Amino acid sequence: MCGIVCYIGNKPAKQILLEGLKRLEYRGYDSAGLAVQDGKKISWQRAVGKIAELERRVNGMDMKGTSGIAHTRWATHGEPTEENAHPQVDPEQNVFVIHNGIIENYHTLKRKLEKKGVEFRSETDTEVLAHLIAMNFEGDLSQAVRNTMLQVEGTFGIGVMHRQTPGELVVARRGSPLIIGVSDVGHFVASDVAAMVRYTDQVVHLQENELARVTADGFTISTVQAKFVERTTETVEWQAEDAELNGFPHFMLKEIYEQTMTIKNALRGRLEPGEGVPKLGGIIPVWERLMACRHMVIVACGTSYFAGCVGRYIFEKLTEIDVEVELASEFRYRKLNFPPNTFIIAISQSGETADTLAAIREAKRKGASLLGIVNVVGSSISRETDAGIYNHAGPEIGVASTKNFTSQLVILVLLALLLGRHQKLSLTEGVEVIRELESLPVKLSKVLAQANHIEAIAQKYHKCNNWLFLGRKYNYPIAMEGALKLKEISYIHAEGYAAGEMKHGPIALINPQMPTVAIIPEDEMYEKMISNIHEIKSRKGPVIAIAVEGDQKLKGLADEVIEVPRVIDILNPILAVVACQLLAYYCAKFLHRDIDKPRNLAKSVTVE
Ligand code: G6P
Repeated sequence: MCGIVCYIGNKPAKQILLEGLKRLEYRGYDSAGLAVQDGKKISWQRAVGKIAELERRVNGMDMKGTSGIAHTRWATHGEPTEENAHPQVDPEQNVFVIHNGIIENYHTLKRKLEKKGVEFRSETDTEVLAHLIAMNFEGDLSQAVRNTMLQVEGTFGIGVMHRQTPGELVVARRGSPLIIGVSDVGHFVASDVAAMVRYTDQVVHLQENELARVTADGFTISTVQAKFVERTTETVEWQAEDAELNGFPHFMLKEIYEQTMTIKNALRGRLEPGEGVPKLGGIIPVWERLMACRHMVIVACGTSYFAGCVGRYIFEKLTEIDVEVELASEFRYRKLNFPPNTFIIAISQSGETADTLAAIREAKRKGASLLGIVNVVGSSISRETDAGIYNHAGPEIGVASTKNFTSQLVILVLLALLLGRHQKLSLTEGVEVIRELESLPVKLSKVLAQANHIEAIAQKYHKCNNWLFLGRKYNYPIAMEGALKLKEISYIHAEGYAAGEMKHGPIALINPQMPTVAIIPEDEMYEKMISNIHEIKSRKGPVIAIAVEGDQKLKGLADEVIEVPRVIDILNPILAVVACQLLAYYCAKFLHRDIDKPRNLAKSVTVE
């Protein structure tokens, strides 16, 4: 959840660390801090609030040195105060630690340390790390960190600096990602490549229970048992400008607009129009098993979960496989009992969501095969699944997920089509799906072209405190996703419902101050949706319909109509959701919300 960036090289560390923190701010932003080492002197500062506040404080400070560690926090243990911000230090101020994750046995460790007379100055679990590393230090920082790793339970990605060992940083991971970047100005270590893409595209992923000693000229990786590991660098496909606003007022808007491109990226090299069969190289390792599979469970959290919910309908339409969808946080505690040849599909933008990771680990233990649909290359979920398909959507910086949702849907269609073509789908049916997939970017740009119209709708309704989103079948999950987008970034209360359920509760709330967004394509559910709209209108509720181009019936019925181009049923959610994203964006804009960094939320939820 939090962001870590460390640097050691030939440039002044302060500016590089601040710049890195700004690029990581989307991962957590309630407080921040940094420490810079110059020989045996370590200067440090922490501040509550955004990185800009930390920057204001360190600007006046004399912080020389070309190595340092920095952190942006999303509070778990202890409120966002200066004392609880990172780095955490030992009383002698020898050890400086930044930490992502949670030390689960921190109460026990803290009690033991207090018995030895250690005084704690913060409410954080991280502070125990600083004390333990200080106590374990006998001249070799790596060994002190190793010994500490053996004492702590839980998850961590840590960066450590010691006053007595200038010229080196030690970083370690268990459960929280850490990436080493190799550049011509020195070495970086960060929780996310966004912090370093300006300087390098050459990275090494630290793996579970490994630590690295990093200097300006090189790094060594070893395990917690002090076994040294050789690892070559990989090239990341993200560009520095992916993490820039490029003239857009917010990353969320930029990412909404990028969807014409990210859909092309999800399709690139994967279509064989003549055969009506997609090519998905990432699943070759499990192909035989997939062919035998008749039962799948999709597990995910948040927006990725709603992509999974649409996926279930898509698989039902295109394949003979039974698909269940489960929230990863629930699935991991279920009594799991899979039929033979069950596949678990984990959907995750970050590839690091703690509940999704725990869910796949549990499923693996019970004998299921694992497939990942992941955006971040080299992330934990991509490594722990048997095979997978990458989104290739580039970094998503806005906390509310947009472009990844649509690329997840495209990938689910590709996977279902591939399997379906080996089951019940004819060549003609396969060719039609591929043709329609290829038409998506142009059709999506027609939805984007209505941004002004959607903005005007948002202007009219953004003061309404309660909204309802309704859809059926493929668009029932889009109703839930539309409501989620609105509440995440505008803090307006919104509920997404299956339209058929409206009479079982939400209808009681309908009144002239409660808008309903009804997603109503011309599909087999059309007439039923029209009846729902009549029911709302007879209770004087305003209706914003997301309908198909040229739908005359709705023009006379709904208060507002957002038109999306005609496309086959299974792809309609990809267009409808973009209208919902824009609506949420503009409502949040009129309410002056911090759109890219909504309160209390974090981009990557790496704790349970
Ligand atoms: C957080 C983010 C959401 C995201 C969810 C799942 O809640 O704020 O935007 O949908 O995590 O994340 P994942 O990386 O697993 O898709």
